[in-house]
Amino acid sequence: MKHIFKKGTDETKPTLLLLHGTGGTEQDLLPVADMIDSSCSILSVRGNVLENGMPRFFRRLQEGIFDIEDLIERTTELHQFLDEAAETYSFDRHNIVAVGYSNGANIAGSLLFHYENSLKGAALLHPMVPRRGVEVPKTDASIFIGAGTNDPICPASETEELSALLEKAGADVQVHWESFGHQLTRTEIEAAEKWYRSKF
Ligand code: MLT
Repeated sequence: MKHIFKKGTDETKPTLLLLHGTGGTEQDLLPVADMIDSSCSILSVRGNVLENGMPRFFRRLQEGIFDIEDLIERTTELHQFLDEAAETYSFDRHNIVAVGYSNGANIAGSLLFHYENSLKGAALLHPMVPRRGVEVPKTDASIFIGAGTNDPICPASETEELSALLEKAGADVQVHWESFGHQLTRTEIEAAEKWYRSKF
């Protein structure tokens, strides 16, 4: 997968896995990672799917309706890419914290829904429930969810559903609410930074 890897100054820290939103690239979340922890290694990945020229991490049939077969395939592809990247760049595969926005948050959520221990933690910024009708593998991951009370793409009820599903699987979940729709805001990133500092 197309990506950027930047070695951090502190090898005991997690590697931050950056996953952009629809139409984004691996460059987008670099400033966010810098705000969360500038001493971490960073692996920032570009989604392999193109929707009208816009990179994404998996196909969708329409807004909010995911192509589940493709979601499963792309989740496996990303999971395996993380295994390979950990070997190539010599970082701890078991110490990855994802930072994903929108479609990137959804593929990070999908890693949690399909693989045990794929992520040590995740800051999911405006995520949806990636898939229904499956049992989420047991996890002790720390999860931050940044949500909007008036997010037209991820309704508040879906945030609550996601939070409950992850908690049921054993995750330690913290939800931060804003009221700026689907936008990623500075205060939300600051809240994610505070969460990160308290957990890692
Ligand atoms: C998705 O397709 O993952 C969500 O609708 C978020 C988006 O990318 O718009």
